Amino acid sequence: MKVDTKLALFIFMSLLIVLPAGCEKEKPTSLSCLSGSSLLNSTDKKDKASLPLTPTSPVDQEEATSHFSFVAIGDNGCDCPAEEKIADRMLDLYNKHPYNLVLMLGDNIYGNSSNKGGDPKLFPERFDKYYKVLEDKDVKFHAALGNHDMQTNNGVYEIKDGTRFGIMGEKGYYTYTPNIKTDEKPLVAFFALNSNRMVEGKKDDEQVAWLNRALSESDAIWKIAFFHHPLYSPYGGHKPDIGFRNAIEDILIRENVQVTLAGHNHYYARMKPQKGIIHFISGGGGAKLREPEPNDYTACDADSNNFLYLEVYPEEIRFWAISPEGSTIDSGTIKKETLFHSKS
Ligand SMILES: [Fe+2]
Ligand SMILES: [Zn+2]
Repeated sequence: MKVDTKLALFIFMSLLIVLPAGCEKEKPTSLSCLSGSSLLNSTDKKDKASLPLTPTSPVDQEEATSHFSFVAIGDNGCDCPAEEKIADRMLDLYNKHPYNLVLMLGDNIYGNSSNKGGDPKLFPERFDKYYKVLEDKDVKFHAALGNHDMQTNNGVYEIKDGTRFGIMGEKGYYTYTPNIKTDEKPLVAFFALNSNRMVEGKKDDEQVAWLNRALSESDAIWKIAFFHHPLYSPYGGHKPDIGFRNAIEDILIRENVQVTLAGHNHYYARMKPQKGIIHFISGGGGAKLREPEPNDYTACDADSNNFLYLEVYPEEIRFWAISPEGSTIDSGTIKKETLFHSKS
């Protein structure tokens, strides 16, 4: 294919890749999304009246056995009011649309004046207090490590605590494939990276080799990578770490990863497709917010606490970013057929 034809195809696919999506930037906690469906009803009558209507209900019974749903939170472990609100909305969501999995995008346990981040003394007040109610319903947690988690012995206590954090690799990187198949292939596989080992000039050849191998060995229909440091970000907060991006981006593209989930910047953002990959930042699980400033990468940004809810179907992923009030900040559908680098 000629270069200019490739470029035209890329631009065309980039326009198609997320349909439809609504992002309320000015007032992220309002319900006036341009499109997409709300998952949690507000008790506020005014807000309720402005709920968008949509033909694609996430509770369609016929689809119930054919999809896998999960939640992602980041930068949550602060034992602060916003962590409580987000946890309450996660429980509300579970009661309406049960899910089996919560991915934690890092900064799972922040420190306080006496203990550093990742200290097991803080696990009861920064994890159990908010999420045990979900664990008791058999929701599994699988975490990536953030920079704050590394403050106590490089995150070893979170790594060892499989019940709370589900980190299935002694260095903080691992893959997890839920047992749901379509045409004998796993519907979705998750790849957790320990980005702390690859930022600020650090190189981790072993982790890169592992990522290559783990991705190439997976024949999952959807491959989702998650880690703490975003590969792309709006302005505001931390800049993307270019060394980390350069270490893994080509592998993600070649091995057909379609979506990444990251935290570290304390807000919500969805990037325009970058080389065929959709990048989300959900860093609003509780910690003090930052102000995002949109740039060329940004499709949607909101200085709101938030968590993400995703439903994975064989041909598409539907997503909702949800505010502490239960309103929809952003939502849309990622169509597999429009991901131009998909192999299958
Ligand atoms: Fe953080
Ligand atoms: Zn962080």
